[in-house]
Amino acid sequence: MKYFITTPIYYVNDAPHIGHLYTTLAGDILVRYHKLIGDDVYLLTGTDEHGAKIAEVAEKKGIEPKEFADQISAQFKSLWAKYDVKFDRFIRTTDADHEITVAEFLTKLKEKDFIYKGEYKGLYCRGCESYKKQSELVDGKCPDHNRVPEELSEPAYFFKLSQFKSQLIELIKCNALLIQPEIRKNEVLSFLQGQELEDVAISRQNVAWGIPLPWDNKHTIYVWVDALINYYTAAKEKNLWPADLHLMAKDILRFHCVIWPAMLIAIGEKPPKSVFVHGYFTIDGQKMSKSLGNVVDPDKLLEQYPRDVIRVFLFKAFPFGSDGDFSFDLLKEFYNGQLANELGNLVQRVLTMVKNYQNGVITKPKDIDPTFEIDKVSETWSLWKSSLDNLQFELGLKAIWALIKYANQYIDDNKPWGLAKSDSEKLAIVLYNLTEVIRHLSILLLPYMPDTASEISNRLGIKLQEDLLVDKQNWGVLKDGTKIELSEALFPRRG
Ligand code: MSP
Repeated sequence: MKYFITTPIYYVNDAPHIGHLYTTLAGDILVRYHKLIGDDVYLLTGTDEHGAKIAEVAEKKGIEPKEFADQISAQFKSLWAKYDVKFDRFIRTTDADHEITVAEFLTKLKEKDFIYKGEYKGLYCRGCESYKKQSELVDGKCPDHNRVPEELSEPAYFFKLSQFKSQLIELIKCNALLIQPEIRKNEVLSFLQGQELEDVAISRQNVAWGIPLPWDNKHTIYVWVDALINYYTAAKEKNLWPADLHLMAKDILRFHCVIWPAMLIAIGEKPPKSVFVHGYFTIDGQKMSKSLGNVVDPDKLLEQYPRDVIRVFLFKAFPFGSDGDFSFDLLKEFYNGQLANELGNLVQRVLTMVKNYQNGVITKPKDIDPTFEIDKVSETWSLWKSSLDNLQFELGLKAIWALIKYANQYIDDNKPWGLAKSDSEKLAIVLYNLTEVIRHLSILLLPYMPDTASEISNRLGIKLQEDLLVDKQNWGVLKDGTKIELSEALFPRRG
């Protein structure tokens, strides 16, 4: 089954931060999951490079906008490589095929009579790159950017968004455009139902850094219209439209659930199938902002922890869809507790015992231990699957950790060190159960912790195939005579 996932394309006015990392990792987790279940998955990410904000920052730095965009865009791309993000395309809005697609898209809108020329009079926040109403300001400033918006009064072309109100409401109500979590769906619906939809200006006369309007090159295309079309550009190349899932945070919900589907319907295309909106990070309880100096740099995080640690922490810390807090203290506590003491310790204890009591060779017993609850493993698989299908990452991870705890408890209850002296048959059964649990864990963890998954598999003497789940969920896959490898602890405790 085809499954087309997108992240937002990030602005290149500044270096990547933990918020960008979060959304992109969610995409990567889903890619790895969909590969495992045999879907033909495609992940799109990239950078949003036009517009007044980027031109302004480049000018301050004394370089051309394109040169500046090249630099920051490269930072995003190299960051995704460091976190092993498996994207299929990294799109830039300055890519030639995108510029062509945008021009074609706008021409279609015009031909279908959804565009007219008018005069835009009102406010514009460069931080959001969006038109603002007086009622949206706090003390005359944009609350998100703490910036007084510019007053614009200029000729502009408009898209007849107002015509789409009832169609959009219908689409969202019946989940043909599924917006999750439910509160975000309700938010969009109450926005749509609460007022008349206004037409939206889709061109700017005084912003040179943008794609020219195909029929009037005195205007460039409004950066959000340019940006949203990126999904369509990439889809066209591979025949992927409609997108199955747009990932984002709540800041850009309306663009994706109001303007974007309307633009698509207007040219006779299908709207995206679903949008999932996650929450916002705060840092030590505070809003993350440059002025507070608390922006978390994902590159710096990698100097302190391996990427798998960061990946799993971000998704286990709080539900995807809710706001949550990040702090270095919480990260360290997670590392020492759930990684070093629980997961790492389980793997190390079991492999050490196989090494010490069975010369490092797994024996597959004929008998079973009736006290061992195999159901716990199959239950974990079903929670794993439903949580990944519904983007409830934290629930799936909780289930995995329950299995880890169960296995650690099984060791304490059975005391293999005692069995080694008295009952070698029972010992073989207990150790086999434990190594099988570890093997299951390596695949369950794969979407979240790919390096750890392959490390555990290697130690178990099996090669991890990342693209096939068939048979791996069964019990008893580890073969008699498999040689294990004992190595350093996976997550050495930190002081
Ligand atoms: N360029 C637009 C998106 C165009 S998509 C057609 C844009 N870029 S952005 O660089 O500002 O990225 C916004 C996205 O970054 C959010 O929707 C979210 O995915 C991520 N995050 C930015 N800050 C965040 C937090 N503090 N917390 C979590 N994610 C956040 O908007």
